[in-house]
Amino acid sequence: MKTFLQEVSLGLSKKNKKLSSKWFYDFYGSKLFEQITRLEEYYPTRTERKILKDNKTEIANEIGKSAVLIEPGAGDIKKIAIFLSSLDKPKKYIPLDISEDYITKLSQGFKKKFPKLAITPKGYDFSKNNKLPFKINSSENIIIFFPGSTLGNFEKKDAVKFLKMLKSKFKAKKIIIGVDLVKDIPTLISAYDDKKGITAKFNKNILQRINTELGGDINLNSYKHLAIYNKPKKRIEMRLKSKKNNNIKINGSKYLIKRNEEIHTENSHKYTIRSFKNLTGEAGWRIKKTWVDDKKLFSVHCLHLDKLG
Ligand code: AVJ
Repeated sequence: MKTFLQEVSLGLSKKNKKLSSKWFYDFYGSKLFEQITRLEEYYPTRTERKILKDNKTEIANEIGKSAVLIEPGAGDIKKIAIFLSSLDKPKKYIPLDISEDYITKLSQGFKKKFPKLAITPKGYDFSKNNKLPFKINSSENIIIFFPGSTLGNFEKKDAVKFLKMLKSKFKAKKIIIGVDLVKDIPTLISAYDDKKGITAKFNKNILQRINTELGGDINLNSYKHLAIYNKPKKRIEMRLKSKKNNNIKINGSKYLIKRNEEIHTENSHKYTIRSFKNLTGEAGWRIKKTWVDDKKLFSVHCLHLDKLG
């Protein structure tokens, strides 16, 4: 599996320069993302919270008794708290996040709020095929909670792979998943290009990490944050556009980022109910129930194993 340095040197050597969005999330990046979720323009978090809150009884019924809840990429673990007290004797909660520091710190407050629930936070990068940092008992009621439209970061084939992996590796029985919906372009764009410039800072944090962790000499002011909607692919793409020819040095190696050249840093796919149904079907899951908000901005689904798949 590649290290940060290996991925950066590969990504910046390509003709179409590319870095993976997972590198946004060190402690500071996770903090910035938390700020994004509170922005007026960023509708997904607020809307998903409302959907979870308005339907918590139904969601709890779908989850059922003695659940072992696993949340990959838990980041901000406040969402599960919305319906946790509606659940029927949940057994365990296992939040997983790429930033171990961050998840461990957040879990401390959580333990105080839900003293009866066994909570075991773990650092885990689910984009790698690593061994799970905990034991799985496949006879348990294993529920994956995957909110926030995190699945949107994956290209379609990787999304299918991930959903299949939840079945084969995590032995999931059901998935509660949040997915952002296709909508008018201005609403989408402003959610990823906010007036306060927090998303720009978040995007540039990847360059900051190259500087601090890999000894890079990148001048962050030489890049402009871009958020564009790729209509055929139904996704927001974040990019960093170079304002001038930039010769940079990372760990002894030189790279040239030309004037107006763009580094692609993130995809955030948007779905329709139909396109999401097709995706889950391909991965051997079936949509059992869908909840949306009044404006149909965001969706939450309960997936069941597709016995035919
Ligand atoms: C955490 C992947 C769901 O795609 O909306 C927010 C990340 N990027 N603003 C998203 C993000 C820029 C977010 N996800």
